[in-house]
Amino acid sequence: MTPLGSPPSSHGTLSNMDSSTLSILLSLLFTTLLSFAAGLLFWSDLSHRRRFPPGPLPLPIIGNLHMLGDLPHHGLRRLSAQYGPIMSLRLGLIPTVVVSSPEAAKSFLGTHDAVFASRPRFVEAELDFYSTKGMVFTEYGPYWRSVRNLCTTHLLSAARVRSFEGVRREEVASLVASLKESAAAREAVDLTAQVMRAMEDVACRMILGRSTDGEHDLKGIIQESARVAGTFNLADYVPFLRPLDLQGSTRRFKAVRRSVDKLLEKIIDDHVQEAARYDGKHQQDFIAILLSMMNQPIDPREEQYIIDRTNIKAIILDMIAGSFETSSTSID
Ligand code: HEM
Repeated sequence: MTPLGSPPSSHGTLSNMDSSTLSILLSLLFTTLLSFAAGLLFWSDLSHRRRFPPGPLPLPIIGNLHMLGDLPHHGLRRLSAQYGPIMSLRLGLIPTVVVSSPEAAKSFLGTHDAVFASRPRFVEAELDFYSTKGMVFTEYGPYWRSVRNLCTTHLLSAARVRSFEGVRREEVASLVASLKESAAAREAVDLTAQVMRAMEDVACRMILGRSTDGEHDLKGIIQESARVAGTFNLADYVPFLRPLDLQGSTRRFKAVRRSVDKLLEKIIDDHVQEAARYDGKHQQDFIAILLSMMNQPIDPREEQYIIDRTNIKAIILDMIAGSFETSSTSID
């Protein structure tokens, strides 16, 4: 065996070199290549930085990720105090511009809104079987405008929101009754959790027509889906790590999306079977409204996009994602 640190015999060939020597040589080669690649990235980064707003110097591979700390919004405030209201960061390998004053935000979200309207594509969005059919992760363009138009006209119009007044009254009454019970029993109440539960129930009834499901843990599946989708995934910032799935995020996300799909399929099937009951007087939830528009153009002005089951699932999932925490956090 070749001792560690000694060069292999000059007569040595790959075939007679033992495996530990070979693995040491391969590691050395890999480390050298990695350092070379990191160096290249660093220098190409330096030359690119001239075209970007000011910002801290990024490290190879991780960029400025290490500067954000446990509370990234605090980290960003600290950095923007130093580098200004429009600054450059590199999050892993992803060049990022951070805007942190009302004037700068107006320029990005108002004056140049069409350029910055699309959201970045995260690993989860790419794995999602129907994310490009909804609104949240769909690129800005004619399809996105059609879906948005459908949502504002048919699902989120003032008249439609008013039509759910009864649902809101019932859920608020149930919350008040539960608080009264706890007060009578002199029990401590976690008001944040109670309000969140009530708002989730309102959203589920409005969107899915139910807040529980006999067969599936409806809210459990939705909450798990939001948790997995919201977990920090290093591969979003260092894309070459994606195939390795180091954090197991891809595996978890695929599993939870399968559960979500099964749940939505079942709820849509139930709606199709109950369709006869929707006689015009029945409270129509979002799924029922969308099913009634099935096979029609999403937007009458853009006839090439037709509503099918995938569009319905994508829009429903966006509505759930958009409504679940926003209302309860505002009330809290
Ligand atoms: C007080 C409650 C709410 C607040 C403060 C709120 C706030 C917001 C904000 C700031 C955005 C834009 C996010 C961005 O562009 O990155 C947004 C988007 C969205 N919200 Fe709400 N929202 C609320 C309630 C709801 C409800 C109840 C629903 C559904 C029933 C909903 C559905 C959506 C959807 C689907 C989007 C994505 C729109 C798109 O991608 O163009 N939101 N919301």
